[in-house]
Amino acid sequence: MSKMITFNKETLEFHLTNGLISYLFRVIEKTSQLEHLYFGKAIRHRDNFQYLLEREIRPSNNQIEGDHTSSLEHIRQEYPSYGTTDFRTPAQQIRYPEGDRISDFRYDHHNILVGKPALTGLPATYVENRDEAETLEVVLKDTYSDISIHLFYTIFAGRKAIARSAKFVNNGEHEYDLESAMSLSLDFPDKNFELVHLHGAWARENHMERKPVITGIQAVSSARGASSHQHNPFMALVRPDTTEHTGQAYGFSLIYSGNFLAQVEVDTYQVTRAMLGINPFEFAWRLKPTEAFQTPEAVIVFSDEGLNGMSQTFHELYRTRLARGEWRDRERPILINNWEATYFDFNEEKILDIAKKAAELGVELFVLDDGWFGERHDDTSSLGDWFENKDKLPNGIKGLAEKIHALDLKFGLWFEPEMISKGTKLFNEHPDWLIHVPGKRTSHGRNQFVLDYSRPEVVDGIFAQMDALLSTSKIDYIKWDMNRYISEVFSIALPKEQQGEVFHRYILGVYSLYERLLDKYPHLLIESCAGGGARFDPGMLYYAPQAWASDDTDAVERLKIQYGTSLVYPLSSIGSHVSAIPNHQVGRMTSLDTRANVAYFGTFGYELDITKMPEKEHAKMKEHIAFFKKHRKLIQQGTFIRLQSPFTNNETAWMVVSQDKTEAIVGYYEVLAKPNRPYERLQLKGLEADKLYTVNSDLERYGDDLMEIGLILAGNYIDRASDYWSREHITDYNSKIFYLTEKQ
Ligand code: DGJ
Repeated sequence: MSKMITFNKETLEFHLTNGLISYLFRVIEKTSQLEHLYFGKAIRHRDNFQYLLEREIRPSNNQIEGDHTSSLEHIRQEYPSYGTTDFRTPAQQIRYPEGDRISDFRYDHHNILVGKPALTGLPATYVENRDEAETLEVVLKDTYSDISIHLFYTIFAGRKAIARSAKFVNNGEHEYDLESAMSLSLDFPDKNFELVHLHGAWARENHMERKPVITGIQAVSSARGASSHQHNPFMALVRPDTTEHTGQAYGFSLIYSGNFLAQVEVDTYQVTRAMLGINPFEFAWRLKPTEAFQTPEAVIVFSDEGLNGMSQTFHELYRTRLARGEWRDRERPILINNWEATYFDFNEEKILDIAKKAAELGVELFVLDDGWFGERHDDTSSLGDWFENKDKLPNGIKGLAEKIHALDLKFGLWFEPEMISKGTKLFNEHPDWLIHVPGKRTSHGRNQFVLDYSRPEVVDGIFAQMDALLSTSKIDYIKWDMNRYISEVFSIALPKEQQGEVFHRYILGVYSLYERLLDKYPHLLIESCAGGGARFDPGMLYYAPQAWASDDTDAVERLKIQYGTSLVYPLSSIGSHVSAIPNHQVGRMTSLDTRANVAYFGTFGYELDITKMPEKEHAKMKEHIAFFKKHRKLIQQGTFIRLQSPFTNNETAWMVVSQDKTEAIVGYYEVLAKPNRPYERLQLKGLEADKLYTVNSDLERYGDDLMEIGLILAGNYIDRASDYWSREHITDYNSKIFYLTEKQ
């Protein structure tokens, strides 16, 4: 018996509601097409929602002769087509054998399923108990072909989120070409929105931008073969008065790691059409008889508690019902990675020196980064030869792993499994395994080429190499990197009419390798990475519960990167490390405290040669590690709240509150120091008004007082003028951490 999904047989209306949100649409009686009615905060159920219908006679093309209100241009839709009276961007396009693209999909039947079916070959949210969600499958049939489209809508109990996807099934004997297959389309009745999205580049990922929507089309996308540094597969539509804490926000997030399109189209009647899915540019799929095409899943979130409300819904869903496996709920190990410590220049002795010191200070995992395999001494060679370099590591990976474990550390290893360097054994054996167009130039990125993961034998070959290492050496963690984009896309294994499939098949190949590795080695913790955050997306999160957020480890730059990333992704997924000064990306000098205070809000780790640090800093590092161990459960599993944005302020602030509200940690960061400063306060959020909290063990404040009056940030020098003059020299890049715990 369905509790959250209702179908009214008389009015042909679907109402999906869990008491928090409502999603409403109907079947139009005359044409059997789907008409969208509402998505937002829950509204009470009615036996008839016909009063929501709006029809004006407008100059337009109409579907039905004699009927002047049957134009699809003026009807809000669920999964629109182009060419039969709607002139906006469609959710799907199919090219018929005759060459036209005119389809006519009509409601055929529907099923209401308890729980949520899995998506074959694709990452998706899931449930652990059947009563956590209900799924509506609406089957549309095309009048002009034997294709049916299955639209899936999952509503989750207790979450303000709906997961959507579409499946195209060819039930006939002809072949068709799918030229566009979006995961969702959603028509809003007005255009009173601003568009929020995340953009960036290498070393400055996930910067937040917010601009009013315009009449016309605005889009963010990727055509690079990865979700990319440039744009994240996410956008939000927010009301102009929406803040971090108040107002409506609609978040759209695609569970996919390849080319995507997130588009908003506002027409001249002020209808806003939001769309999300695989980028139709450079996409086509030959739908053969009896075959099906499943789109990736898109998640839409509604919030009436501002952007923080939206983020918290994404965090909870993605942390607990997208990420999976043994590491999902476990506290993540504090790691040290040798990349910025040594780059390619290391040997076993150097690695063990770093590891020894790290173990003494409380680090839990040592990660050996790039440069351990083949003849890799710089970035010009060896990718694809996944066997150790015995000059650097005379005892091999196996021997090194044993020594690292003997220090009571876990051992992690870097791979870049999708890449190939020329001159390698792999290249000599399989010169045709790289993505290239025969007879045309193939561009390199960081001197390397991309393996054709659309071919199962290529994925098999790399699996065999990784398996050989994983089955003989004790490896607890993998950092899976990907350091270039795909150009000259082509697969020699596919016929010319299927070349539009390569980008998507490539990503399916990547997912299948993840799947195989985790199947065989379920204890593995995988951290995804793509030159930093070029594939920080929900698709990866399904396999790798954490991702390296950026190659920029500067604490100040990280404020923006981590703030932006937190719009969608939980802290448990944000790889964040303390690195050396002067910082390797921007040369900035920040204190060890500030570097740690920023890195705490993520998975936390180190990425520097700690053997070169002064003893004094080692003592500090030990304190930081102890602090993080004590609080990481709260940080990684609590509710994260953004308080002040680095994009608009000199001061950034954020906090995490435990689920039971008995504890919280606040991070406050001031980029530039201020002379003769004003008194400043920081109003906290998410605490329990009646609880008495101890702040940094020396002050007692009630929750309401901390949320209404705020933390007092200025020092208190009453009767201590001399202290004032002798206080530590004020510098830029200051930060403070406040730990709040309920007084017992
Ligand atoms: C890019 C990654 O983001 C870095 O952390 C490091 O692993 C290098 N690649 C190694 O080549």
